[in-house]
Amino acid sequence: MTVRPLLSAEAINAAVCDLGRRLSDDYADRPLTILGVLTGSIMLVTDLMRQIAIPHQLGLLQASSYRDGDGSPGELRINAEFLPCLEGRDVLLVDDILDTGRTLARLVEEVRHLEPHSIRTAVLLWKRSRTVVDLRPDYVCFEIPDEFVVGYGLDFNGEYRHLPFIGAIER
Ligand code: IMP
Ligand code: MG
Repeated sequence: MTVRPLLSAEAINAAVCDLGRRLSDDYADRPLTILGVLTGSIMLVTDLMRQIAIPHQLGLLQASSYRDGDGSPGELRINAEFLPCLEGRDVLLVDDILDTGRTLARLVEEVRHLEPHSIRTAVLLWKRSRTVVDLRPDYVCFEIPDEFVVGYGLDFNGEYRHLPFIGAIER
């Protein structure tokens, strides 16, 4: 299995810096809470926070979908045990990738119950051609074609998350 480079560490860094500047403007004087979706968003969240020039809080939740035997998406499990209070906060859900969009759409619904003032979504990558839900991400760093990608937090069977760049898996 090889990894064909798609986005360099430099390109990712430039996009994350740009996103940080936009968020600093858009959320100036707002009670911003970054809500990272584990595990894939860890690198994005830690890099992004350092590029946001306004005070903000951090929350983390875990979402994992157990694939059925035939490869179709299984039930989505959400662990929100460690969330800070979101009531009245301006919440930005941050995930590594929006693929079908089912995960983020479900998470937005879950977070809505916690009565934040607003909810928006930010993703590093968007496979627009595969998205089946109504949700459009509010902030996107890169649109990518329908390929399975790894690196910068994204995994294949738990591996490759450590790569500083993003590449497509080739068998
Ligand atoms: P969705 O619910 O279909 O949008 O999928 C969301 C989750 O599937 C992401 O948070 C990733 O964990 C995983 N995923 C989707 N596409 C890829 C990929 O190309 N590489 C690695 N993980 C992916
Ligand atoms: Mg994920």
